[in-house]
Amino acid sequence: MHRIERLAVNAGEKDLRALAEILVDAVDSGAAVSFLAPLTRETARDWWREILSTSHSGAIFLVARDQESIVGTVQLHPAWAPNQPHRAEVSKLLVHRRARGGGLATRLMQEIEEEASRAGFTLLTLDAKAGGPAERLYRRMGWTPVGTIPGFALDPDGRTPHDAVIFYKRLPPSGPGGDTRKGSRGSSL
Ligand SMILES: CC(C)(COP(=O)(O)OP(=O)(O)OC[C@H]1O[C@@H](n2cnc3c(N)ncnc32)[C@H](O)[C@@H]1OP(=O)(O)O)[C@@H](O)C(=O)NCCC(=O)NCCS
Repeated sequence: MHRIERLAVNAGEKDLRALAEILVDAVDSGAAVSFLAPLTRETARDWWREILSTSHSGAIFLVARDQESIVGTVQLHPAWAPNQPHRAEVSKLLVHRRARGGGLATRLMQEIEEEASRAGFTLLTLDAKAGGPAERLYRRMGWTPVGTIPGFALDPDGRTPHDAVIFYKRLPPSGPGGDTRKGSRGSSL
């Protein structure tokens, strides 16, 4: 069984190593997660360190742990724009290959949606490689596809373009009396 919890922005070296391992594993598996192959563990660790320390104070990083280490993760980033205080972007849903196919990504998404709702967000957005397992998962979880952008990014081989599907999901306003955004936005601990 996996335990899902928030990750502190000053994550320790062991957690950073595990997160780097998950990102490298995703690139090695051909996933569209911003990076090209080969991705070194060092570059991946530096990226995690950077994103954790420079993100919006309302960003939320969730991790799923087994007995040994982190095996899955997902992020929520509040929109920076002052006219979008109700919107946040979900990104970097990653589950290590050794833990896939057992519902872990589904649980991570349920948790991040609940965290987003508690923090007062009412609109979530994300994009996913067309035709991949993530697109199926988001559709299954009730996300609305807006459309497909052709040739949005390259596969990890750095040559093959792939399309991306843009999704959104509306969340009901949380708390008594509706939107509690101002008073309850979470921090990333
Ligand atoms: C996309 C990704 C996060 C999915 O992770 P996962 O933990 O395997 O996802 P789930 O287990 O929740 O769902 C995957 C499949 O397992 C099935 N499943 C879920 N629970 C299950 C269970 N208890 N027993 C058997 N199968 C189960 C789901 O129905 C789903 O099937 P489908 O793909 O045919 O629809 C993972 O493949 C990954 O990390 N990919 C690389 C990174 C990536 O592409 N991220 C997305 C960026 S947008």
